[in-house]
Amino acid sequence: MIDYTERIPNNVDLAADKTLQRALERWQPAFLNWWTGTGPVSSSALQVYLRTAISVDRDGWANFGFVRMPDYRWGIFLVPRDETRTIPFGDHQGQPAWQEVPGEYRSTLRRIIVTQGDTEPASVEQQRLLGMTAPSLYDLRNLFQVNVEEGRHLWAMVYLLQRYFGRDGREEAEALLERRSGDTNKPRILTAFNDPIRHWLAFFMFAYFTDRDGKFQLASLAESGFDPLARTCRFMLTEEAHHMFVGESGVARAIQRTCEMMRDHNAGDPAQARALGVIDLETIQRFVNFHYSATLDLYGSEVSSNAATYYTTGLKGRSGETKLTDDHKLTGAEYEVHEVANETIVSRSVPALTALNARLRDDYIREIQAGLDRWNRIPTQLGIPFRFALPHVGFNRRIGAFAGHSISPAGEVLPEADWNARQRDWLPSEDDHQFIESLMGRVVEPGKFAGWIAPPVRGINNQAVDFEYVRFN
Ligand SMILES: [Fe+2]
Ligand SMILES: [Fe+2]
Repeated sequence: MIDYTERIPNNVDLAADKTLQRALERWQPAFLNWWTGTGPVSSSALQVYLRTAISVDRDGWANFGFVRMPDYRWGIFLVPRDETRTIPFGDHQGQPAWQEVPGEYRSTLRRIIVTQGDTEPASVEQQRLLGMTAPSLYDLRNLFQVNVEEGRHLWAMVYLLQRYFGRDGREEAEALLERRSGDTNKPRILTAFNDPIRHWLAFFMFAYFTDRDGKFQLASLAESGFDPLARTCRFMLTEEAHHMFVGESGVARAIQRTCEMMRDHNAGDPAQARALGVIDLETIQRFVNFHYSATLDLYGSEVSSNAATYYTTGLKGRSGETKLTDDHKLTGAEYEVHEVANETIVSRSVPALTALNARLRDDYIREIQAGLDRWNRIPTQLGIPFRFALPHVGFNRRIGAFAGHSISPAGEVLPEADWNARQRDWLPSEDDHQFIESLMGRVVEPGKFAGWIAPPVRGINNQAVDFEYVRFN
């Protein structure tokens, strides 16, 4: 169980480590300052129906009740230690999992933790203004749930830095509160976490595409030979599932509403849909194209010696590593990657060790495609001929084998001028953003929803859809 008599709830026996406890208690007011200054605007007086972890057991981690967000019990929760766990892959395979940082991998491991940790506050910053235009109380509550849990994920990484990395860990913990999403001088580390999230369609897309990248990164770190990191990430994964649900169901509800209006008013083209006050499916497809391609960049280069090093040194595994049945060293194994040669896209076999980023990305794409297939059932059922499709992996890429090439969504290598001329058809324009922003208006009456989005099928934690998920008094 988690000790809630502590200022910092935890299941790591913080009280027994006074130095660490003091360090974290010094960091806590800085975190609250960051939350108040850059977290959800005008939210501190609201009572929000949130889940809070009270234990890491199967049924104890989601405890629901009304909470003012500044009072949320951000804490440090790791899944319990398995004393028999061994390192599941790489050069150290079969050795007992590390309980302390191996000296020779210290800076690499710190970099991995800082990069993961940096995405958590970044997304809260990106979503800061969205509460002002929430399409319902149900959605407002979901946004805030995602925000407090990303805050807790920051705590999870800061615990590792302060507990295991001494002075430079403490400095990194402070720097995590100093960088800002989109700031020119002190930006967040990864590009996709510096783009603003301007409206709720972008938020849902981000939660679907980008939180799912988070899931796959956490899944590979959950296999790490560094046991405290593995245990931390395992618990984070339980929370991540809800974020992806918010994204997938949010986009689905927008599609649902659009298709219903198109059917009821016999509207075929995008302008007719827009005139009905819903987001046309063509525009939704452009957001799919953008968020998908921006998120693929987060996997890094398809062929990467860093990825190989992380694996052979036992720091970062493959997703589901322990369930895979090969030698867990990838000696002699090959993997197929794609690249551009002579203005066409060709495939090439490379050592599987160097292609681990591509492999993790391909695992991700399979799940993303499955969700798209679920979205496509909506127009199918409502008799609308439109179908969503993922663009080619090379489309609109800034990192990896396709960076610097002009690839169409269909996978043709185009002259740059041709690509630029057609960009308006493929990616959201300023006009698209402004149109969607024009639909955004805050709806706070319980059970009411903005006109551009359908209500959810059911509420949160078996509550009714018209439950008062956020109290304003
Ligand atoms: Fe997270
Ligand atoms: Fe998340």
